[in-house]
Amino acid sequence: MQLNIYKDYQSLSESTANTLIETVISNPTAVLCLATGDTPKLTYELLVNKAIERKVDFSRCTFIGLDEWVGIPPRIEGSCRFFLQSRIFGPLNIQESQVHLFDGMSHDPRDECSRMDDAIVTKGGIDLMLVGVGVNGHIGFNEPGAGTDVYSHLVDLHGITQSVGQKYFTGIVQIKQGLTLGFKTILQSKKLIMIANGLKKAAVMQKALEEEITTDVPAGLVRAHPFCWTVLDEEAASLLNLQILPEEIVMGHIKAT
Ligand code: F6R
Repeated sequence: MQLNIYKDYQSLSESTANTLIETVISNPTAVLCLATGDTPKLTYELLVNKAIERKVDFSRCTFIGLDEWVGIPPRIEGSCRFFLQSRIFGPLNIQESQVHLFDGMSHDPRDECSRMDDAIVTKGGIDLMLVGVGVNGHIGFNEPGAGTDVYSHLVDLHGITQSVGQKYFTGIVQIKQGLTLGFKTILQSKKLIMIANGLKKAAVMQKALEEEITTDVPAGLVRAHPFCWTVLDEEAASLLNLQILPEEIVMGHIKAT
């Protein structure tokens, strides 16, 4: 795993947006899986601006959803679908046929998970996955203690995820369960970028990157991925002891292709 530390949120987001753009320029049929949440908001804003400015063609890309809240309709602003639609798909004119997202309103979660896993297999796997990190160390909705041997699945959300998740909604909502891609899919993605910014992520990034790899801190599991970049700002990296990083972690820049 390579670790990349940027001065601030702006430069972290610039770099990540550039990587996404370069990925699509070099592979116009790329299969992308993009997280929602606060962390990648600026990345997506910059991505859209750069894509329009440089006339990058996204019309043959495929987008795979990472996760979704169960019981939250797509018209609600806090849903992952609403987030991706309003920040990426709408502005880049991405067609519905290019998009595979979890339906949080499905009455058959197991079927919903199979549909997502089948879509990923049909597309030949995910070329680039961009994930954020929860303050409890989750990736997608793979909560602490999550299995590593799982594809898409229904999850009972951790208490912290339920309370922190309220920030995405106007008014209090019941978010007890989620649908998520599992760690098998995350570790099978051809390239994985994990981003985190701000002091609120410093403690969890220290655990994930420097302590023993354990399912208690799912973000640390990505250290086993052969093409993974962890991209932090200085605040999120502020508790790391960079002199004695575990041997599988080296400092390095993201390669777009
Ligand atoms: C969102 C997702 C979550 C978030 C994580 C961090 O699709 O999968 O795992 O990436 O909760 O959220 P923020 O970026 O809001 O701190």
